[in-house]
Amino acid sequence: MSAKPVTIHTLQNKKQRGEKITMLTAYDATFARLLDESGVDIVLVGDSLGMVVQGQDNTLPVTLDEVIYHTRAVARGTKHAQVVGDMPFMTYQISVDDAIRNCGRMIKQGGAHAVKLEGGAQHAPLVARLVQIGIPVMGHIGLTPQSVHQMGGFKIQGRQDGQADQLVADAKALQDAGCYAVVLEGIPREIAAQITQALDIPTIGIGAGPECDGQVLVIYDLLGMDDEFKPKFVRRYEHFAMRIRNAVHAYCEDVRQGAFPNDNESFFMDPTTKTGGAGASVQGLYSSGKKRD
Ligand code: KIV
Repeated sequence: MSAKPVTIHTLQNKKQRGEKITMLTAYDATFARLLDESGVDIVLVGDSLGMVVQGQDNTLPVTLDEVIYHTRAVARGTKHAQVVGDMPFMTYQISVDDAIRNCGRMIKQGGAHAVKLEGGAQHAPLVARLVQIGIPVMGHIGLTPQSVHQMGGFKIQGRQDGQADQLVADAKALQDAGCYAVVLEGIPREIAAQITQALDIPTIGIGAGPECDGQVLVIYDLLGMDDEFKPKFVRRYEHFAMRIRNAVHAYCEDVRQGAFPNDNESFFMDPTTKTGGAGASVQGLYSSGKKRD
């Protein structure tokens, strides 16, 4: 694993060399640090946080302040991976000026290295302005969750007449406007392969087949945190829902039985201290040297 930070040039070089790009979502510093230490190229602070962190039905209610808050935490947890802040619904659609202000906040206050926007050719003028200002932009086409009501649900896109050509045209327009990468979500793998062939910039797929230049998943899906949610495009590498429940159950049992905490997990008076209380030392409270307030 390279110690160098991942930049838009690293990703471009990976595409040229035929090396796959890895991207995962994270929403806090602890997960971000683990992903970063595992060598993931890109950590996306997705607006999927609305669903997996906030428990909403879709991503529409997520606000810019919320994504900035989570992005700041993720940025603190990463040293190597590129951090991408997902622009929430209605933070880049109203006007170019409004979008520039909001994307600027994602970089300045969130500490993101790049922003991600959903939509195709209609955003080309905005992308060109952002790139001119110095803000790298990742595109996102196909199944764009912020258009859930327009699509009539979370449905695979590109199967109807003319949609495949439109997707290719959108991808090219985003590249021409200056996007450094584009997410392809929920489209037939043949179309994703065609777009990947046609573009010089990397494509990153989710439910778009193996021909993309990279892949992205929501970290909670990969870890199996939700027993109910297992769409076809997700591969679970763990079943943490069950493991977490087992661990919490064991903890509750131990507490109820009086088996936690034991002597090793308790503090005792210094035998030389007669008065106790005020004079008792708390040195070494956190044996790892890390302290939590
Ligand atoms: O919000 C998100 O997590 C995303 C990815 C699934 C691409 O947009």
